[in-house]
Amino acid sequence: MQVVFDRPTILMCPPDFYGIEYEINPWMSRGRQSDRDRSAAQWRDLYELVVSLGVAVRLMEPVQGLPDLVFTANAGLVCRETVYLSRFRHAARQGETPLDNDWFERAGFQTVETPPEWDFEGAGDALFCGETLFGGYIIRSDAGAMQWIAAQIGCRVIPVQLVDEHFYHLDTCFCPLSATEALYYPPAFDDYGRRALEGNVPELVAVDADEAARFACNAVVVGRHVVLNTGCPNLEDSLRARGYTPHATPLDEFIKAGGSAKCLTLRLDGEDAAVWPQA
Ligand code: ARG
Repeated sequence: MQVVFDRPTILMCPPDFYGIEYEINPWMSRGRQSDRDRSAAQWRDLYELVVSLGVAVRLMEPVQGLPDLVFTANAGLVCRETVYLSRFRHAARQGETPLDNDWFERAGFQTVETPPEWDFEGAGDALFCGETLFGGYIIRSDAGAMQWIAAQIGCRVIPVQLVDEHFYHLDTCFCPLSATEALYYPPAFDDYGRRALEGNVPELVAVDADEAARFACNAVVVGRHVVLNTGCPNLEDSLRARGYTPHATPLDEFIKAGGSAKCLTLRLDGEDAAVWPQA
């Protein structure tokens, strides 16, 4: 089977069984539950917003007992017809991978497992900016997994260490906008990682601490449109100044689990910022 996309295509999973059932990052507290109706409404608004931008949304079936399945960014890293499946660090999320595997197989993708010696959390930690794969490691994914996947793909990889547990996935502190531009939150990286980003992404836009804590970097980019949580006016201004149109939509129910717009989506046809090696 061939996977063919005629427009930007995103995988999402409705939040029917979403909730804060365990604590695997500093945003999560079982004492601060998400509200069912509000999370359903926020997810629906995000869905409608991306559809209004011309995106085709494919859906995964929600499953009781897997509250974080809504965060489809963590299903794996897609490169053409292949998906490199996640191997989650925490047992609480490991039940997601067989379901992700089934979904991708049924959709016509070739699925590849991460070798068992490494953890890897998919597009949450592995993001292309141009021809380079940037890989966030140590908190959830291992640098070895990044090297291994890049070798399979045949691309350059730059592993960057994450140093703040609040920004535990690369997509919480780094967001490629195009092949040459990205948003980042500098304090989430060590000196080496920061320099690696600064030396390899021609135009970096720094996000401030308040907006980073509102998951400003966890944005969905579709062409010149950027979908993000509300409450990030400074970033919205910088985006407009660069010719992008920001679309803010409330996602605070998902921030209670440590996620926002980007985590709730997985681009299946390749991010706009990605330049994949010749097949
Ligand atoms: N509660 C989830 C976790 O800690 C949130 C995942 C957010 N996903 C992301 N791509 N940053 O794993």
